[in-house]
Amino acid sequence: MRIAFFGPPGAGKGTQALMLADKTKHKHISTGAMIRDAMKAKTPIGEAARTYMDEGVLVPDHLVQQLAQLAIEENQLDCFILDGFPRTLPQARWLNAFLAEHGTPLHAILSLVVPDEIIIDRLSKRRVHAETGVNYHLDFKPPPKDIDPSLIIQRPDDKPEAIRKRLAVYHQQTEPIESYFRDIGLLIEVDGVGTFDEVQHRIDVAIEKARERYYAALER
Ligand code: AP5
Ligand code: MG
Repeated sequence: MRIAFFGPPGAGKGTQALMLADKTKHKHISTGAMIRDAMKAKTPIGEAARTYMDEGVLVPDHLVQQLAQLAIEENQLDCFILDGFPRTLPQARWLNAFLAEHGTPLHAILSLVVPDEIIIDRLSKRRVHAETGVNYHLDFKPPPKDIDPSLIIQRPDDKPEAIRKRLAVYHQQTEPIESYFRDIGLLIEVDGVGTFDEVQHRIDVAIEKARERYYAALER
């Protein structure tokens, strides 16, 4: 299937996209993770993105689209789960046009709904493995004791000032494109509050609904 996770920073997109990718053997495509890798490798895209990323503002569309396109093409335009892309109207329009051109439209955009108070708790207590990029949460998913503590770091954009900025950017620039996805019949809202497993179960139900809707539309 071709799925995208949508939602505010800290909604659990990465956590749930990875769980789903593991279970379904789909490719997890996170533009945030690709930008962080490009920054580590000091590639031209990474260097161009660095200041935007660290401040918690969006990286310009053309840079992110290049990364997304490459990853989708590398995966033969199928069996992928996008995480954090698209998040502006130009990105959403570009993605739809690009996939339509190849006859491989998205099955659904799953929007994880989580209120701001919970987001702030999740992001301020998130910790990341510096080498593998695996996410932890100090209360709900603490880093295992056998990991060298010096490898468990906080993302620069998880500092309080950057969290506030990212939430503001989300509400101003990303949230409005929900109605675009709703209008074209792709959006499915999923309650993102609850345990990891509860949210995962709701996602499974939403995907089933998306699958039925997609094949019903093909038969019409
Ligand atoms: P990106 O890396 O995509 O970050 P984000 O969207 O801000 O989202 P996060 O990764 O912070 O949160 P998440 O929803 O993945 O939550 P997670 O699963 O980690 O983007 C970073 C930056 O890159 C952007 O600010 C921008 O600069 C740039 N960028 C990326 N894509 C772009 C694009 N398309 N256009 C332009 N710029 C772009 O969970 C968060 C925490 O909560 C974790 O600690 C987790 O363990 C915990 N948690 C998760 N689920 C639960 C649960 N059910 N209960 C309790 N805790 C939970
Ligand atoms: Mg993420």
